[in-house]
Amino acid sequence: MGIFHRKEAKPELVPQEYLPRSIGIIMDGNGRWAAKRRQPRKAGHAAGARTLRRIIRYCETRGIGYVTLYAFSTENWRRPAQEVDAIMDLLRDYLREASENFRNENVVVHFIGDISRLAPDIQQMIAEAIEFTAHKTGMVVNIAVNYGGRDDVVHAVRQIAQQVKDGRIAPQDIDEEMISAHLYTAGQPDPDMILRPSGEYRLSNFLIWQAAYSELVFMDVLWPDFTEEDMERALHAYAGRQRRFGGIK
Ligand code: FPP
Repeated sequence: MGIFHRKEAKPELVPQEYLPRSIGIIMDGNGRWAAKRRQPRKAGHAAGARTLRRIIRYCETRGIGYVTLYAFSTENWRRPAQEVDAIMDLLRDYLREASENFRNENVVVHFIGDISRLAPDIQQMIAEAIEFTAHKTGMVVNIAVNYGGRDDVVHAVRQIAQQVKDGRIAPQDIDEEMISAHLYTAGQPDPDMILRPSGEYRLSNFLIWQAAYSELVFMDVLWPDFTEEDMERALHAYAGRQRRFGGIK
């Protein structure tokens, strides 16, 4: 599972049949990017938000079906209020811009995580973005905000427990499909590939149930510096893996 180093040569495009259908991205390294430039951390997040826009567009041009971006975790509330506010403002900017662009773009926007803890204006904009794009047929973009993989499982288990309590299902009816069907990503395929730039080798509570068979691709580039060519390199790393799903070939 070694880290995938950036090479300078421009990568060729991976043939369509070897591309992942669903990708998860842990956007990491914004703080280090800012520190290297002696800028405040929020400048790193702003640069990261620009990368997010470029990479969403690139994934769409490559015909990827689902992209899930880890924007704010359940643990990120522990950061200084100033930094949390800066990330929330970037989310507002994205949603404001998106509400204009979404009408012309064929992208379905979805949010995963407990958005009830977000400011009311953000919740309202999220509801509108979901409504504007629900009928679209193109790539699904999941933005993970106040998301934690363990929280996702707890949230699912609570709903299932309620159904047992109400007598609608029996405990022995509970299986993997039922749990998957109650996660925030219900109805979507599990990520084939999870990408983490910035040189860290962790999932950090991202899609932990859904990532059971995901190919993990780590790259030594900070997220704000991540380019479309880096994305293609990550797709090459994925295409070179042999997926066995526990079998032998
Ligand atoms: C991790 O880098 C990044 C985050 C916690 C925030 C990511 C948020 C954005 C890119 C922008 C907001 C989102 C949208 C949808 C517009 P880090 O701060 O942990 O970096 P470090 O490890 O170098 O300190």
